[in-house]
Amino acid sequence: MDRIAITGGARLKGEIPISGAKNSAIKLMAASLLTDEPLRLTNMPRLADTRFLGRLLRRLGAEVVEREGEDGPETLLTTREIVSGFAPYDLVRQMRASFNVLGPLLARSGQAKVSLPGGCTIGARPVDLHLKALEALGARIDLHEGYVYAQAPRGLTGGRIEFPFVSVGATEHALLAAVLAKGETVLENAAAEPEMADLAACLNAMGARVEGAGGKTIRVQGVDRLGGATHSVIPDRIETGTYALAVAMAGGEVRLTRTRSDFVAALTAKMREAGVEVVEHDDGLTVRRDGGRLTAVEIETDPYPGFATGLQAQFMALMTLAKGESVIKETIFENRFMHAPELGRLGADISVHGGEARVRGVDKLDGAQVMATDLRASVSLVIAGLAAQGETMVNRVYHLDRGFERLEEKLGACGAQIRRLKGDGEPVED
Ligand code: EPZ
Repeated sequence: MDRIAITGGARLKGEIPISGAKNSAIKLMAASLLTDEPLRLTNMPRLADTRFLGRLLRRLGAEVVEREGEDGPETLLTTREIVSGFAPYDLVRQMRASFNVLGPLLARSGQAKVSLPGGCTIGARPVDLHLKALEALGARIDLHEGYVYAQAPRGLTGGRIEFPFVSVGATEHALLAAVLAKGETVLENAAAEPEMADLAACLNAMGARVEGAGGKTIRVQGVDRLGGATHSVIPDRIETGTYALAVAMAGGEVRLTRTRSDFVAALTAKMREAGVEVVEHDDGLTVRRDGGRLTAVEIETDPYPGFATGLQAQFMALMTLAKGESVIKETIFENRFMHAPELGRLGADISVHGGEARVRGVDKLDGAQVMATDLRASVSLVIAGLAAQGETMVNRVYHLDRGFERLEEKLGACGAQIRRLKGDGEPVED
């Protein structure tokens, strides 16, 4: 299994281009099942997760072609017909977002059998809201031996769905199904993450009629069929925030390009409060830190536009060296503090009680062997390693490869002392 070795202490200087958003790309790929015409997705990230979903889509009948376009990597997806409505346990277990093929399969062919995804290291992550939403659109859902059997032989019909709390996955899933349902669907208390608006923009380019995505209420007028389209994936806000925090941790000055500063406004507000300089540009942001100790600040994760849970681990890494005590509240996932004990191996002083972590800033971190437990946790260890004295070895980096494209290349180009040690047989896992 590959490992990443980082020798801390190098300041970062240069430019990092941000890739297309993983969490948008995988939902957009699932949307391709809704039409028999080609969907061309540009600004595609090349990640273990997108490759993995490509494999599942091929099994369901899609032709998936990855190629280099005028503006970088793109993927062409064409599903002339659904050859199978079956998404087996092994494929869904390895990547939860695979579950989102259920809605499109049901909308296009009236039936599907998709494995329940199960829990993962960051929490139980049930799918009850996804299933209730599909039922509200007229689907018949049966659960049997770990599988969801869904049927809508006469097609789905529009309905009103009010989510009891914000769920990105359930909102996206409802939208993916509602575009081909008969009549109007209204989604209340919808997720407002930028990936929602991106999905709606792509569906509209395919001929759907979706209004209000990116806000709390989304209205969909169902259409009979969707066609092909070309759509550019939005920049990855979690990758953007991660590199912003890496620069803040290591010190130096780096311009993050091909991205949007407004996507990470909650983060940059907290970074400024802590003492990091952030300058916004049309195509991204510049992060600067000239040495001097940062001040501890408190954060609480919340649905967008609040502080993203996907940046909580990386922010915690930054706080390990700040002056004072930082309180970090995680309100989205019940178990998203697995990085705390690993940061502790580097010398961080962190205590966790329920959904709250207290980070008391220390004078220095020392490199050590650490192990990644999930995607964002692993990158928080890389960030900590950039400022730790000596060598930090991050094991099980296949988690990183799920969501960060060419991480060591991007950081290395800015002067980070980071290298990958090759292993073999790395599995894909959520
Ligand atoms: C998405 O997960 C992202 N994943 C996560 O990023 C992200 O952290 C999360 O949204 C929050 O922004 C993808 O887009 C693939 P939710 P999702 O449904 O859709 C509970 C990463 O790091 N819930 O908004 O699964 C759930 O357990 C990943 O790239 C139910 O109870 O998140 C959680 O506590 C990790 N029932 C809360 O809602 C349901 O039916 C919010 O989850 C659905 C969710």
